[in-house]
Amino acid sequence: MISYPPEPFRIKTVETIRLLSPLEREEPIKKAGYNIFNLNSQDVYIDLLTDSGTGAMSDKQWAAIMQGDEAYAGARSFFHLKEAIDQIFGFKYFVPTHQGRAAENILCTLMVVSGCSIPNNTHFDTTQANILARGGIPQNLVIAEAVDPKNLHPFKGNMDIEKLEGFIQNQGPENIPFGMITITNNAIGGQPVSMENIRDVSAIYRRRKIPFFIDACRYAENAFFIKNREPEYADKTLLEIAKEIFSLADGATMSAKKDAIVNIGGFFAMNDETLFQRAKNELILREGFPTYGGLAGRDLDAIAVGLWEGLDESYLRYRVGQVAYLGNKLQELGVPIVEPPGGHAIYVDAGEMLPHIPKDSFPGQSLVVELYLEGCVRAVEIGSVAFARKDPKTGGMIYPDLELVRLAIPRRVYTQAHMDHVAKTMARIMDRREKIPGYRLTYASELLRHFTARFEPM
Ligand code: F0G
Repeated sequence: MISYPPEPFRIKTVETIRLLSPLEREEPIKKAGYNIFNLNSQDVYIDLLTDSGTGAMSDKQWAAIMQGDEAYAGARSFFHLKEAIDQIFGFKYFVPTHQGRAAENILCTLMVVSGCSIPNNTHFDTTQANILARGGIPQNLVIAEAVDPKNLHPFKGNMDIEKLEGFIQNQGPENIPFGMITITNNAIGGQPVSMENIRDVSAIYRRRKIPFFIDACRYAENAFFIKNREPEYADKTLLEIAKEIFSLADGATMSAKKDAIVNIGGFFAMNDETLFQRAKNELILREGFPTYGGLAGRDLDAIAVGLWEGLDESYLRYRVGQVAYLGNKLQELGVPIVEPPGGHAIYVDAGEMLPHIPKDSFPGQSLVVELYLEGCVRAVEIGSVAFARKDPKTGGMIYPDLELVRLAIPRRVYTQAHMDHVAKTMARIMDRREKIPGYRLTYASELLRHFTARFEPM
């Protein structure tokens, strides 16, 4: 029997959710242009659109919120956050931002110049878009194992070290204003990166004098995988592992909406003082004064508490266990998923599940619509709708390797019975999968088109 460690918390507040009847689901999805981003959340039963900002805060976080200091400058809340960041991340400076992409925006505004390249294991879509928006070229250099959904590599999120060396050699380090790594690697399945790989990447960037920034949104889940899969870290605490990770970099962008279990917030941390001065100026222009960024004081307090709760080992064992539980259930049904299960989500290989739908008819999009119609479940496409882009040289489309659908699990929100509902929904879709139609775009924007696109079934 598949199981996972019971919740290391009990439920103090509940929110009613409603399972619409199959008939009641037809109208909202049609009105939404078959784009689940256009659905009202009232019309969704299990919302697996994202694990970002959707976690349940603890009693301690809510208590901290009541104690938020809303002073414009020098607020106590800022120093609470500073203490947590100092202890876990250890970077010399940071600025709070309203979320992760705001940190990316500041980093890219300050460092990306037109025509430069930014390597990463795999850029998340907002990072890719921020680089493109400044005229830079995002480059993904993840290991080849990552694009094989059946490959059981324990650190499938790793950077391909040889490719990185070759890429820097080719581009010239002077054309690479900074390099990144994303932990865990969201875009290819929430897969972790090993400490060994982070160490190697850091050594390469440092040798070439390329500043190294970590996209740290899910660093705690990544640290948990390092402890459990990298033998020399088995006896280390998660705090020790986190500190070691960040000691290898020059800074980090962080969306606190993930592993700090808050509904809004982020920060941009760094060691370089000049960069910090420039970041503060940019922050004041776009986000707010450096001791609150784009946030209220109370938000900073919630992050300060949440950073520690998100790094707690018994919580992470339950958390990663719940995600694996759903993954294993789907595998039992014969649903092709990215293996092994990731840290925050299960990624269904819609390309393999619906082989009769070609890439330009969006198999992932089809599965997302079916999940809603069949079970009132909201998932998200991470395939050609989100990631295909025009080749600037040939004008043709560059398609991503995989057509995935992500079932992201909010933190501390849903129970095992909810996971079972998702699995049952998928079982019913599997039974009639040959009959599922592809989709055609009726509207698409230039950047980040998946958020606003509209479709019709073919
Ligand atoms: N980097 C990664 C790896 C992310 O997953 C996200 C957000 C961001 C940066 C940007 O952070 O949303 O706070 O601005 N990911 C969310 C998701 C949206 O659903 O995976 P943000």
